[in-house]
Amino acid sequence: MFQRLRGTRDFYPEEMAARNKVFKIIRETAERYGFVEIVSPAIESFDLIAKKSGEDIREEIYAFEDKGGRTICLIPEFTPSVSRMIANRQKELGKPLKWFSIPRHWRYERPQSGRLREFYQLNVDIFGSKSPKADTEVLSVGISIMLNLGLKDFLFHISNREFLHGLLQEYNVSDIHEAFRIIDKREKIPEEEFIESLLNCGIKNYDEILDVLDSVNIDNIENFKGRNKMMDRSIGNLLDISRYLDYYGFREYCTLDLSVVRGLAYYTGMVFEVYDKKKEMRSLFGGGRYDDLVESFGGEPTPAVGFGMGDVVLELMMKKEGVWPEEKTYIDYYIANIGDVDRHVLSIARKLRDKGYKVTFDLVDRNLSNQLKYADKINAKNVIFVGEKELKEGKILIKNMETGEQKKVEIGKI
Ligand code: HAM
Repeated sequence: MFQRLRGTRDFYPEEMAARNKVFKIIRETAERYGFVEIVSPAIESFDLIAKKSGEDIREEIYAFEDKGGRTICLIPEFTPSVSRMIANRQKELGKPLKWFSIPRHWRYERPQSGRLREFYQLNVDIFGSKSPKADTEVLSVGISIMLNLGLKDFLFHISNREFLHGLLQEYNVSDIHEAFRIIDKREKIPEEEFIESLLNCGIKNYDEILDVLDSVNIDNIENFKGRNKMMDRSIGNLLDISRYLDYYGFREYCTLDLSVVRGLAYYTGMVFEVYDKKKEMRSLFGGGRYDDLVESFGGEPTPAVGFGMGDVVLELMMKKEGVWPEEKTYIDYYIANIGDVDRHVLSIARKLRDKGYKVTFDLVDRNLSNQLKYADKINAKNVIFVGEKELKEGKILIKNMETGEQKKVEIGKI
């Protein structure tokens, strides 16, 4: 017997129903913020993804040659695709654009808790605004989603790459992107390996840099003003975001954490990661500002900010907090036949379905007792008995399976 591939999941009906309920809450929340849903293909040209994603993601791409000899890949993330969509149609699109999507992604990672090879990822992005209000809007929709899902044990760790960039420049670090990559790995690799990588990258005064990153908080960050333009700009941005979060009443869900860098190469300003408060699990979601990506795909300069939230850690966290929905699939009406009554069964099914009810009936010639067992198995709320005897009176019998109540109804009144 074939088994599913490692790192992938099957969703049986009840699991799918639970997931749909969660996605419905997510969709409705995004829509309340004025975001509209889009979809893009699951496959893209390899170059589009390889050009802009981080080095780590590049190594995990499922890429192959198609029959036309083109190298294509299953999308490991959505940001290059959505930026391509903007660049393709920028003249017609009125900015700012607030878009969301829940695509599936594929990454050849080692399957482990919170990380799979195929997963869903909610993407929420705003295109065409440089304002810290747009940064805050993206953070806030993320916070609202968490709250509407019933979650409380989470914290948004917010940073701005320009702060670290400016700080690294102060210490004459030349390969800024490599330095970002290493600092992003700080909590994921052993300390010795981390320090060795910093030294190899030419960062001799790494302890001073790390001291700054660890000691800055939202109340003392202004003390770092006046060192260079990048640091000043990032401080202004972070203070604005903090103020707006305050106006929204969301500041308690956020903390300033300058050690957050994000592994992806395209981020240019505010960046953030979301964790459970004790940081016991992998990151729930992450994102930030990427003002140059659309332009790098041939579009007009278009500032952008957004995030990606995977469903895997989300499910783990919701289960841990006891808020993952337990869904049971059901059917409104099972139509049981007694005798040769197909004409009536099908006509009743059509009428009820047209009214919006979920309806099914016997497809395998079962006797009445087995039909009732099946109705119970598929959680039928009501059973309609269509028998020759009642039909002679022009009636059918409806039984409410929860209360046991039965009533005869004129067939014409359905
Ligand atoms: P990312 O940090 O690569 O960012 O992924 C974002 C989230 O996707 C992670 O925090 C995690 O929840 C989920 N995720 C990533 N890899 C896996 C995996 N192998 N298994 C399960 N879940 C996973 C991005 O993808 C950016 N494109 C996000 C973004 C959108 N930035 C701006 N807009």
